[in-house]
Amino acid sequence: MSGTPTAVVVAAALTHEGTLLLAQRTRPPELAGLWELPGGKVEPGESEDSALARELREELGVECSIGAALSGDVDLAGGLVLRAYRATLVSGTPAALEHSALRWVDAAMLPTMDLVDADRLWLPELLDILLTS
Ligand code: C5P
Repeated sequence: MSGTPTAVVVAAALTHEGTLLLAQRTRPPELAGLWELPGGKVEPGESEDSALARELREELGVECSIGAALSGDVDLAGGLVLRAYRATLVSGTPAALEHSALRWVDAAMLPTMDLVDADRLWLPELLDILLTS
């Protein structure tokens, strides 16, 4: 289709010492209680890296360095595309400023978490990252 740029939602695979940070959603009701890679929408004129760093600042209160993209995009409802990037902490300790809880999970715990469907695409790659870091 021409004319309508695709809106991108960026999400972070934020890792630290062999664990991955998951955040528990509060909304909408059908997603509340499920766990996701934290992130949000890229604003017009913003790069994906800057958008993800901003979202992590707003949602977690931390400064992060954004790395390589994970493999594959996920088509979301409403013409949105979800893309994930590696991220590492530069400063601060993550706090659940916009989520109901945060959890650092290791490779054993990750498959047991109730993830939002969209993020499940990356489960094998996330496990690989955790097992090789
Ligand atoms: O968090 P927010 O509501 O801004 O996210 C926009 C859209 O991206 C929502 O549909 C949300 O479910 C989706 N999303 C996702 N996985 C993430 C982050 C956001 O499916 N890790």
